[in-house]
Amino acid sequence: MKIAVLPGDGIGTEIMAEAVKVLNVLDLKFETETALVGGAAYEAHGHPLPEATLKLAKDADAVLFGAVGDWKYDKLDRPLRPEQAILGLRKNLGLFANFRPAICYEQLVGASSLKPELISGLDILIIRELTGDIYFGAPRGRRTATDGHFPGAEEAFDTMRYSRPEIERIAHVAFQAARKRSKRVTSVDKANVLETFQLWKDVVTEVGAQYPDVELDHMYVDNAAMQLVKAPKKFDVVVTGNMFGDILSDEAAMLTGSIGMLPSASLNGSTQGLYEPSHGSAPDIAGKGIANPLATILSAAMMLRFSLNQPQTADRIESAVKDVLASGLRTADIYSDGTRKVGTREMGDAVVAAITKKTTKG
Ligand code: IPM
Ligand code: MG
Repeated sequence: MKIAVLPGDGIGTEIMAEAVKVLNVLDLKFETETALVGGAAYEAHGHPLPEATLKLAKDADAVLFGAVGDWKYDKLDRPLRPEQAILGLRKNLGLFANFRPAICYEQLVGASSLKPELISGLDILIIRELTGDIYFGAPRGRRTATDGHFPGAEEAFDTMRYSRPEIERIAHVAFQAARKRSKRVTSVDKANVLETFQLWKDVVTEVGAQYPDVELDHMYVDNAAMQLVKAPKKFDVVVTGNMFGDILSDEAAMLTGSIGMLPSASLNGSTQGLYEPSHGSAPDIAGKGIANPLATILSAAMMLRFSLNQPQTADRIESAVKDVLASGLRTADIYSDGTRKVGTREMGDAVVAAITKKTTKG
């Protein structure tokens, strides 16, 4: 088994070091190979996703990804910006199904900006389509307008589009995921305004008929954004397009008060996948040794479960993380009175210690 390790920019290198440390105490047989990606790759090779990095990712069983981006690259031409690395990996590896769980850890209830009773026990799964929609739709660009409100003016345009098979396959992923949970799917669209999302709604409804045991409802995206802060526990599996999923998954993650805790998986229908924390590269705290490595460590657990067929080892990591939280250790982002503030490395060491302690006991 081969894991491509792509730490990226900002806090990426620090959090990845801890995840790799955890993987290395699990006595599994795998090989890792590290490569540059994002701004770091641009600095070294003039491109955020160099050929060699893409080849490594394609040939690997799984990709463990840190984070990319820094404001200092905002002025670069779009194809050279760090974000293009993650978009390029998604596209080239065909990673169309993005799993973004939003789980509220009981010990962190106080870290949410919502009232504890609204989020205590929260466990929702956002399934975001990841290779279509306005993110990748052609044509796009800049031109001189020939019609509209200001003919002759400079304008920019993107294309929102989805084909029936693209919607079908992500709908199947959502219904199958729901079968392993509480058998409820909410499909989020904007069918009241957009043709693209009328097709989305129609196709999800059709696919849903093949899963009579799963309850399906539909919600407009603006209402979904509202319901997420009003009564988030009403959701279980949420399935939506690339753009709406980008926005709603950040909202859902922040509800839990612990975006630094949340992993994600991007899958392509085979067992190959890319695993990354739900948070970004946080350049403001990079290099300070204070970032929370738990989302990356938990992403490694998801990788073991989905791509490397090691569900029990994944459980071991997840239960070690819970033990560490129960022991009161917190990085700055989840710190509250009465807990003990630790840095990135100390948090990684604590997870390693919790894993080895259980191994010696068992
Ligand atoms: C995400 C990020 C990316 C996206 C950016 C970095 C391109 O926000 O993974 O949610 O928009 O998909
Ligand atoms: Mg996003």
